[in-house]
Amino acid sequence: MANNEDKFRKIIAHAKEYGFVFQSSEIYDGLSAVYDYGQYGVELKNNIKDYWWKSMVQYHENIVGVDAAIFMHPAVWKASGHVDAFSDPMIDNKDSKKRYRADVLVEDHIVKLEGKIQKEVTKAAKRFGDSFDEEQFSNTNPRVLSNKKKIEDIKQRLYSAMKDKRLGDVKTLIEDLGIVCPISGSRNWTDVRQFDLMFSTRIGSLSDEANEIYLRPETAQGIFVNYLNIQKTGRMKIPFGIAQMGKAFRNEIVARQFIFRMREFEQMEMQFFVRPGDEIKWFDYWKEERMKWHLGMGIPQEKYKFHEHENLAHYANAAFDIEFEFPIGFKELEGIHSRTDFDLKSHQEYSGKKIQYFDPEINDSYIPYVVETSIGLDRTFLAVLSNAYTEEKLEDGSERIVMKIPPFLAPIKAAVLPLVKKDGLPEKAMEIFDKLKYNYMCFYEEKDSIGKRYRRQDAIGTPYCFTIDHQTFEDNTVTIRERDSMKQDRIGIDRISEIISERLKSNK
Ligand code: GAP
Repeated sequence: MANNEDKFRKIIAHAKEYGFVFQSSEIYDGLSAVYDYGQYGVELKNNIKDYWWKSMVQYHENIVGVDAAIFMHPAVWKASGHVDAFSDPMIDNKDSKKRYRADVLVEDHIVKLEGKIQKEVTKAAKRFGDSFDEEQFSNTNPRVLSNKKKIEDIKQRLYSAMKDKRLGDVKTLIEDLGIVCPISGSRNWTDVRQFDLMFSTRIGSLSDEANEIYLRPETAQGIFVNYLNIQKTGRMKIPFGIAQMGKAFRNEIVARQFIFRMREFEQMEMQFFVRPGDEIKWFDYWKEERMKWHLGMGIPQEKYKFHEHENLAHYANAAFDIEFEFPIGFKELEGIHSRTDFDLKSHQEYSGKKIQYFDPEINDSYIPYVVETSIGLDRTFLAVLSNAYTEEKLEDGSERIVMKIPPFLAPIKAAVLPLVKKDGLPEKAMEIFDKLKYNYMCFYEEKDSIGKRYRRQDAIGTPYCFTIDHQTFEDNTVTIRERDSMKQDRIGIDRISEIISERLKSNK
């Protein structure tokens, strides 16, 4: 654990040092849980967006995009249920003055109990060797059974208290479990209170309450309120999807995890409209499709797992998360939700507009059901970054940090470097840069030794460096240096473009 926390700190420091992510308004000491993407961060982010947009919109004949405004009519958030239900239970520790999500404190306690079970299993597996039957052991060992029962009881108490908003019972549960503040180590807790997650502001010149509007806490509602517009003007036939990427805002209580939990972040969401009764079929389909999308980035499968929701949101009849093993542990990266007809039905009620689809195949009208895929762009960015970050000890005893970002996502595809800053080498290098720049994001640099320049490109994940030297004038060749193997070779200038293009097709 200590090692992973250490790795997380190193990734955050690296992201800052090499222009990926900066604290917002840093010269004013920053703004908590708000971040800016720097010169390489913005490129990586755009490449992830492009990968998502292409695989969701361009590669599906029945999915189209939309770009809805962040400001929406306040009634939208009444209809969606956010005004009444989008809040988290918070609790403060009176000694450390730290604020926590009360449900997360309890869930962390459950994770500890699960860890105890796992320890028993590992110990027994060692003791029994090949003859070990894990299922039988887990179903009979008294210590495992006792911890399983504890977990069940805690979940039951937590989820029912949360559902009925019995905040006093959540506090009693925290006290009964003897949960202590990780900072102060004390059990000196305040009462649990609901904390509203939506940001509000005012629109227009008047400052009375009637003009209060919200910053959207999810992009999905921009899709729902445009359902009729798009279905009609796009002549869309069910099943079909609408996809959107954009900013969302949540006044998160606990915001100490870099870009994992931000107050302003980006989502990439797709709502797939289906015939009622078909939703679970499509839910299963999108669950698998989305996992394939993640694996398409070349990140190993064992870094991902599905997590089924036990405590369903007010709008869902089935929900899975795709979790990723961040340095801070397995955490939610994407949600796949079967949202029923909750949203469209509610917008129909609140707006008074009929939101129905006439299905010619069954000669009937209905409010479509919705399967949603909802992924956080910033969390995907963090997943790519944490998987890519590699420290290597080299044969000559030196060390390097290399970001093994899949080439198609890498911020810079090729660096063009004159060996020295004289004898016409910069001009020749610039000539090559000018040819490549229309097809690839390239980088030109002439300062510092070539070794230092290679290391800087490793640190931002550039798959190839091309070095122009005196021999270039003799035989029209350059040195190609590959990021991961650090192998160098000589190739003709006319092959540069083809080599980059080939590499971009692979995700390694
Ligand atoms: N429309 C459904 C929805 O918004 P969600 O599970 O609340 O569902 C979807 O959010 C995704 O958005 C999450 O899986 C996560 O990747 C991302 N996300 C949510 N809150 C976030 C935050 N505060 N900071 C960064 N990403 C966040």
